[in-house]
Formats: sequence, C-alpha cells, structure tokens
Amino acid sequence: MKAEIKILRRKSAFSDNYWQGIPFETTDENATVAYALNQMNRTKGLTDTEGREVELPIRWECSCLQKKCGACAMVINGRPRLACDTELREFRKKRKGNSGDQMGEIRLEPLHKFPVVADLIVDRSILFENLRIMQTWVNGSGKVAEKRSDQAYEASRCLQCGCCLEICPNFYPGGEFFGAAAFVPAARLLSTLSVEEQREVREQYEAHVYAGCGKSLACRDVCPAGIDVDHLLSSSNGIAVWRQHG
Ligand code: SF4
Ligand code: SF4
Ligand code: FES
Repeated sequence: MKAEIKILRRKSAFSDNYWQGIPFETTDENATVAYALNQMNRTKGLTDTEGREVELPIRWECSCLQKKCGACAMVINGRPRLACDTELREFRKKRKGNSGDQMGEIRLEPLHKFPVVADLIVDRSILFENLRIMQTWVNGSGKVAEKRSDQAYEASRCLQCGCCLEICPNFYPGGEFFGAAAFVPAARLLSTLSVEEQREVREQYEAHVYAGCGKSLACRDVCPAGIDVDHLLSSSNGIAVWRQHG
C-alpha cells in the first residue's frame, strides 16, 4: 500500500506550524497510522514529497498501541481518532482502474482544543483539571450497587482521550462546560456513591454538565471506546438533577 501522509508539524509551542507530506509504503495490510508514524521515525534520511529531508522524530504520543490508553488521539482526515485504531486501508482510493494499493491523502493534525506542545502532541491538562473540579474520585469503598454495575462499568471504560471534546460544539478550554470527558467519569461516581455522598458531584454535574450540554451526541459518534454516552447522560441527569435514585 502506498500513501501520502500529510502532517501538520510544529517544532515547539512557540513556532509556526506547516504541512509536510511524506510518502509511505507498506506491505502490511493491517498497518495503522500509529505503525506508519513509528516506521517513519525509524527511517534514516526520510524525505518528504518535495525531496527534502524530514526532521525526525515526528512527535506524537502513544503508550499501549491497543486502544486502551487514549494517548494517541489526534485529528485524522478531519475526525478525532486514535492513531493505533485507524488502519491505512480505510483510505483506499475507490477509483475505476485503481490497482487497490493506492491510498488517498491521510492528514494528521493535533487535537485543536488543547495547546500544541510539538507536532501531534497536545497538553491535555485542562481535561484533568476539570475532573479535579468535578471531584471525580472515590472517597468511600467504591462499592457499586448491583443495579448500577452496568453503568459504572460502561463509564469506567473512558480513555480520557479528548476526542469527544474536539467535536463538542459547547466545549472550549477554560469554559464552564466540561464535556463528555468529564461527565462520563462523573456518571461512574453517581452510580457508585450513596445519595448522601453524591452531593458534591451532583452540584458540579449540574453546573458543568447539565447546564451546558446541547445533547447533540456528536461525542457519542466519535468516542473510540464506543461508550454509550447517550445512556450515561440520561441516567446521570436522572440521578444528579431529577433526583431519581431508584
Ligand atoms: S451531547 Fe453534544 S454538547 Fe453534550 S457533550 Fe456531547 S457533543 Fe458536547
Ligand atoms: S468519552 Fe470517549 S471520546 Fe470522550 S474522553 Fe472518554 S473515551 Fe475519549
Ligand atoms: S497508544 Fe494507547 S490508545 Fe493508542
């Protein structure tokens, strides 16, 4: 397979960004964007589409490479996704006469709602700061009532990747609305804590989730963990706002 991978590069937070197209070729049918980035970073004397030497490494974050940690979130052809969960073959050109191994252009950009550190790395501190404000930690035993165990498990699958914040029309860093990356972990707590223990989280939930969510559910459509945001939202609204604890 052959592709042109276009990367929005930036040397540091203080430098200008620029697009750089890099030709990439592999025989691995299952190659992902993460694989391509790793391979390119291992290639000595890598050149771009204009024949210039590419400054390596191309900076990006990863840890698990198994869709479990959320570190590799970036914008891929306009959509927030995990690099380790995005196969190059998805971008095959569907054209008459195409031999089948030619990819369309694959554009990689850092998530836009966070400050860029370098290339595809962003600083997602605001996401964790919002969790701190929401007080999304377990103080008590963390025991989950049986009737809410499914909801608690679903919420615990959040990767804190930030893809939902990228697409959310109502979230901006420093704003009062914290988005799905905050309300999904809050939903886990609301399933775990007793009614008395929920008070603080309920107050934060009302102020930073309920008051600002437009319920468009764009976040559900991009969540790489496939979390049932719709269900968690309505159930948490019930517990936190309408006080339906049954
Ligand atoms: S439902 Fe819409 S407004 Fe609410 S968090 Fe998701 S994308 Fe944002
Ligand atoms: S809700 Fe989904 S998209 Fe948002 S941070 Fe959690 S895993 Fe990522
Ligand atoms: S590297 Fe962990 S989700 Fe991609």
